[in-house]
Amino acid sequence: MRIQGHIKKEVEQLRLLINYFNQQYYVHDDPQTSDEKFDTLMRELETLEAEHPYLVTPYSPTQRVGGVPAIKFKKIERETPMLSLGAMRSKAEALEFDKRVRKATDSNEVEYAVELKIDGLAVELEYHHGFFVRGSTRGNGLVGEDITANLKTLGAVPLTLDKIEDVVGHIPKRLTVRGEVFMHKADLKKLNKERKKNKEKPYPDTRTAASASLRRLDHRITAKRKLDVFFYSIVPTEDVSPLTQISSTEMLQELGFKVNPHTMAGYGMDWARQTVKEMRSLRKKLTYDADGVVVKVNSTHDQEKLGNSAKYPNWAVAVKF
Ligand code: IVH
Repeated sequence: MRIQGHIKKEVEQLRLLINYFNQQYYVHDDPQTSDEKFDTLMRELETLEAEHPYLVTPYSPTQRVGGVPAIKFKKIERETPMLSLGAMRSKAEALEFDKRVRKATDSNEVEYAVELKIDGLAVELEYHHGFFVRGSTRGNGLVGEDITANLKTLGAVPLTLDKIEDVVGHIPKRLTVRGEVFMHKADLKKLNKERKKNKEKPYPDTRTAASASLRRLDHRITAKRKLDVFFYSIVPTEDVSPLTQISSTEMLQELGFKVNPHTMAGYGMDWARQTVKEMRSLRKKLTYDADGVVVKVNSTHDQEKLGNSAKYPNWAVAVKF
């Protein structure tokens, strides 16, 4: 038994190290080891797991492409609907939105968070005790499709939140996060070149390609496509409830999720509109597609005060490019 305990520790340490290198590579674009060394670690883990199959868990880095293809997507019902965003089309609409927010929150100047609106498809990921257990598409908002196996194939999706206890202060029973899966422009070009060679129809844009690649019954096809993801929110619960949109983004990052670097906060609608303008000019330089900017009320408390309508939150709007 002593030997087996020793092996369990070795397996756990290997997983932590692999997760760390994986995160540096996929989340921070900052590789800390060579491909060869990374492969050696993976092979070591695979060997130990093959010799001691009782140590394999669904959250091991060796299990990103495990299991058999699905016959159909299971439906997932959620308690907190995934909403869409209303549009802000003019200065007049911006001032109107700001006026409503100031009135509802009883403030002279509102703190806003401004983010890029990533052009991909929205996903929700659930972590139980720090383990990734379920992931879904938005679907109609309340009911989505179970794409857990597909999401596991993305390097930027953490299978375990190894730092959760330090970041949150305890291990929450449930943590639900949301984000946008997308494809980089260069990866679409490569994929379409390949498709043309194989006499397959090229995808018209990165959003269609990301959606067609992620929503596959055979997740082994998803694994072959290069997909990326930016996370933008933590669904507030009694357990975990960041005070602002910006602190939510910071917490996501500390937990090991990839977040978009072009996220900032400032006071007043003039600032927000100026920032939207700056982000618009940033667009061409991005390696991925953004179809607009999202302006959100930064304080979670104020977001709750403002509430939601049937389709849209009253505390966030999209400025489309
Ligand atoms: S917030 C309740 N933030 O845009 C707030 N959405 O039209 C709703 N999207 O389905 C989402 N980037 O897929 C938010 N930084 C971002 C976003 C973002 C892209 C997508 C998301 C959503 C759609 C809303």
